[in-house]
Amino acid sequence: MIAFALVVALATLAVGLAAAAGLRMLPTVRAQLAGLALVAVALPLAAVLLSGVVMFHMGADVVILAVAAASSSAAVAAALVVARSTSSGLEQLRRASAALAQGDLSTRAPESGPAELAELARAMNEMASNLEQLFDARRQLVAWASHDLRTPLASIQAMLEAVEDGLVEPERYLPALQEQTRTLGLLVEDLFELARIDSGALTLELREARLAGLVDSCLRGLEAEAQSRNVTLESRVDGGVPPVRCAPDKVERVLLNLLTNALRHTPSDGSVAVLAEPLSHEVRVSVEDTDDGLEPESLRRMFDRFWRADEARTGARGGAGLGLAIARGLVEAHGGRIWAENRPGGGARVSFTLPAA
Ligand SMILES: Nc1ncnc2c1ncn2[C@@H]1O[C@H](COP(=O)(O)OP(=O)(O)OP(=O)(O)O)[C@@H](O)[C@H]1O
Ligand SMILES: [Mg+2]
Repeated sequence: MIAFALVVALATLAVGLAAAAGLRMLPTVRAQLAGLALVAVALPLAAVLLSGVVMFHMGADVVILAVAAASSSAAVAAALVVARSTSSGLEQLRRASAALAQGDLSTRAPESGPAELAELARAMNEMASNLEQLFDARRQLVAWASHDLRTPLASIQAMLEAVEDGLVEPERYLPALQEQTRTLGLLVEDLFELARIDSGALTLELREARLAGLVDSCLRGLEAEAQSRNVTLESRVDGGVPPVRCAPDKVERVLLNLLTNALRHTPSDGSVAVLAEPLSHEVRVSVEDTDDGLEPESLRRMFDRFWRADEARTGARGGAGLGLAIARGLVEAHGGRIWAENRPGGGARVSFTLPAA
């Protein structure tokens, strides 16, 4: 008897495994679930019936067949209902991902149904909204870049036409033409530097350098502009600051970008200071000014390319909005960080770190 029970158990197991392997061949989730329900009901039922026939010589064939047919049908019907809801959830996800693939980034999948499907839909929706933001940012970037390139070009063209038509003497427009050409040149140079940072083609000639020297040379370069605007420039580089390992020309570029911003945003009689302090394995350099400080939106977006607090993008008080994006790229290429904050006493502070030599 025990031997017979063992044989039935092993045979049930073998048939179960074979059926499971066979179910994986079915093409749809729906068919697989229905098949699974059928196997789960029919197999134990068959084992019990077989044992009953052999051991107790049961003869109620019609009743047994009716029970078997009823329970199998119930199982298949229940499985089809479950499979329908699962496969319709999958179908909705498939449709949403096909729409995304075709470029409709506003498509979202319904985040309902079984937990795994809802989780998948949530992840897909998050990806779609990130992509949408990325594309919006890119569109805005191209719009701003073309605006900033077009403005000086249009003004150069207008001046040249006026000279060509004999409306003005060439000498009158010469300084303005030079100024606009310089603006265009700087913008193209900045775009080129950003492209180099993005492509990883930036070559940093790293060497040991003292910050005090770099800061002094930058401050000297801005002295005349600061004097004309009645702003005090000050270097407060701590005597204990160790030398840093950096590409000095790039660090000067970062410092100049931060100092130009600080000067631009400091009112007459204000002051701009550069501080350097040692941290554990790095040195922190900060540029502080004495304006009203930064709005929350500036704090969030000032390192974005082409972003300026002045949305009208009138040239009066600023450049293209690339200075801080370049500064961030250069600092990060050195393995440092850059961030902005408001000083407790008023005014903005933009700081970056460089590895100590
Ligand atoms: N020290 C500061 N105080 C207040 N706002 C600042 C300061 N530095 C930057 N900002 C804000 O962040 C924006 C972006 O600065 P960023 O240096 O990238 O561009 P920009 O100075 O406008 O142009 P560019 O540097 O290309 O000539 C500025 O337009 C300004 O609105
Ligand atoms: Mg700037």
